[in-house]
Amino acid sequence: MATKIWHVLELLEWTTGYFEKHNIPNPRLDAEVLLGHLLKKSRLQLYLHFDMPVFQEDLTVFRELIKKRIARTPISYLTNHKEFMSLDFYVDERVLIPRPETEFIVETILKAKEGPSQRLLEIGTGSGVIATALAVNKAEWEIIATDISNDALAVVEKNRVAHDCAGRITLLHGDLFEPIKALESPRFNWIVSNPPYVMTSERDTLSPEIRDYEPHIALFAGEDGLSVIRRLVAEAPNYLHPEGKLIFEIGDKQAESVKALLEEQPAYQNYRFIKDYAGKDRVVLATVE
Ligand SMILES: C[S@@+](CC[C@H](N)C(=O)[O-])C[C@H]1O[C@@H](n2cnc3c(N)ncnc32)[C@H](O)[C@@H]1O
Repeated sequence: MATKIWHVLELLEWTTGYFEKHNIPNPRLDAEVLLGHLLKKSRLQLYLHFDMPVFQEDLTVFRELIKKRIARTPISYLTNHKEFMSLDFYVDERVLIPRPETEFIVETILKAKEGPSQRLLEIGTGSGVIATALAVNKAEWEIIATDISNDALAVVEKNRVAHDCAGRITLLHGDLFEPIKALESPRFNWIVSNPPYVMTSERDTLSPEIRDYEPHIALFAGEDGLSVIRRLVAEAPNYLHPEGKLIFEIGDKQAESVKALLEEQPAYQNYRFIKDYAGKDRVVLATVE
């Protein structure tokens, strides 16, 4: 008997139905992204080629991708791509998948009126999206990016090379400010971070995509979710120039607790919160004296 020839449209429809049956969120979108990734076509190109046949060897790979998505592997780990600040980044299970709200950090820094040459430190760079997006936009800035995870630093390495920024982002490994202490000049105009801030007790409320696949070192920060932020707020003034700025992301229910942490530190002359698209305080910008 002749083997059935599948075409793009019927494959998309079949996969959408299969994802629906398995309660995968956004079933049609996921089907399109996965098939587009496999066939190296944008979603628009898929629409223009609905009647294109999909050959057996591609079907075999597609079947594996579908199985992994049913097991709730995040789409970005299956395609190894995530867009951030309109740039394409490599991601895999060694790093957190960058979130759109983190773009507020980069946009705020880019909008600030500063001198031409700034020195910036990113703590917990993960895939390197913040450091790389800044390096792409601010060629004259000196940028140092750190992470406690050597696995994450291997991913940043790929991204800084892909975006032609290898010479402009220095990577250091270690816990918070530890790797900075050895530098000849450990003071910065900017310290930026999207630290882990999820409470360990929230683990079971997370989607399987996050809970079972994203690195826990990138997500969890103790009982109250503040174990990294607390140290960041307390130690950052020691590494900032006068009028230097600390900017970092927080969880959507953490504004009051973070305000209290900032108030405890006399080194901050002012601070403000920046809201995300949902109107929640999600980024803190604090300036030292
Ligand atoms: C929420 S992820 C952010 C990754 C990336 N900057 C982004 O915005 O997508 C937090 C990152 O901080 C790193 N990290 C966690 N604890 C750390 C610590 N004590 N010192 C340095 N980096 C840390 C994790 O390995 C992870 O890459």
